[in-house]
Amino acid sequence: MMKRILSTVAGFVVIGVANAPAQQPASSAPAGNAKAGQALFMKIGCYECHGNEGQGGAAGPRIGRSPMLAFRNFITYIRAPRGEMPPYSAKVIPEKDVADIYAYLASLPPAPAVESIPLLKPDR
Ligand code: HEC
Repeated sequence: MMKRILSTVAGFVVIGVANAPAQQPASSAPAGNAKAGQALFMKIGCYECHGNEGQGGAAGPRIGRSPMLAFRNFITYIRAPRGEMPPYSAKVIPEKDVADIYAYLASLPPAPAVESIPLLKPDR
C-alpha cells in the first residue's frame, strides 16, 4: 500500500518535469539582483503561496529553479495569472523588480533528481 502511494507520487513528479516548458537561455532575461529579489519575494508575499524558496506550498506551485519559466513568460504570468494567483501590475512590481525576483529564483539550486530521493525511487 505504502509502496503504491510512493510510486504514484514519483509518477506525478516525473509527469511534472516532462510537461515543463523548455528552458530558454539565461541571456533572454534582463540582469537582476538576486539578493534584492529575495527581499522582494518576502516583502511582496510571493513566499506565502510559493514557499520561502519558491519550492511550492499548499497555496501555490513550485516556481523556483528547474525548470524555470522564460523571463517573458514569467512576467506575463505575474501581470495576468490565469488561475488562483492575484495579478501584480507594473505599479505594484516594476519590471526591474520582477527581474530581481527572477534572478533570485534562478539562483536557487535545482530540485534534486527523483532518483536521488530514496523514498521516490521508482520500483525496479
Ligand atoms: C495567493 C497566493 C499566491 C501569491 C501571493 C503568489 N502566487 Fe504565484 N501562483 C499561485 C498559484 C495558485 C499559481 C498556479 C496558477 C494559478 O492558479 O494562477 C501561481 C503561479 C505562478 C507562476 C506560474 C508558474 C508556472 O510554472 O506556470 C508564477 C511565475 C508565479 N506564480 C510567480 C509569483 C510571484 C513572483 C509572486 C509574488 C510577486 C507570486 N507568484 C505570488 C499563487 C500565488
